Amino acid sequence: MRVVVLISGRGSNMEALLRAGLPVEFAAVISNKAEAKGLAVARELGVETAVVNHKDYPSREAYDAKLAEVIDGYGADLVCLAGFMRILSDGFVNRYAGRMINIHPSLLPAFTGLDTHARAIAAGVKLHGCTVHYVTPELDAGPIVVQAAVPVLEDDTPDSLGARVLEQEHRIYPLAVRWIAEGRVELSADGRARVRSNAPAANALISPAG
Ligand code: GRF
Repeated sequence: MRVVVLISGRGSNMEALLRAGLPVEFAAVISNKAEAKGLAVARELGVETAVVNHKDYPSREAYDAKLAEVIDGYGADLVCLAGFMRILSDGFVNRYAGRMINIHPSLLPAFTGLDTHARAIAAGVKLHGCTVHYVTPELDAGPIVVQAAVPVLEDDTPDSLGARVLEQEHRIYPLAVRWIAEGRVELSADGRARVRSNAPAANALISPAG
């Protein structure tokens, strides 16, 4: 399976994917920003990189058409969004239906969009986390592949909570790609992703522990 990863910045999830020893070929890492730190990391790890700068295109559609051309040029079977900070046009999303996944820093469907850690703290939730999901035209709403939950602690700041979530992002994103590569994830007609697993379900995570 040939995988293309799209980033806009730091690229820590991309790095977790590239270092996970997955049974896939990382064909390229593409950024919409030339200054994205993750590009150098990808090159150090021997993966080809490309920049498709959104500022060079007159419209979202024109940009997305070019981006698709570049992705398809790498023969991508799977597109992984990893902190790619662009709203994608419906045409682009539909072109990669069932072949594009994203990592989102909340337990979806709670806290779609931005500033998820601050909003989780403000809402007083006791569990927060991250989600890998297929991308559909509705923002952060596609079929969920895997989630990880972490406790929200009394003295958490968005940064401290975000760091706890990010550790789990780096675990579950490679897991999701592995399962997809192994053919263990099935998209069903009811809009859900089913994962065939032999492992026993995880125990409950109760927060606060009391
Ligand atoms: C992560 O929190 C991810 O969940 C979100 O954007 C952030 C990207 O971080 N979509 P990085 O570039 O992977 O370090």
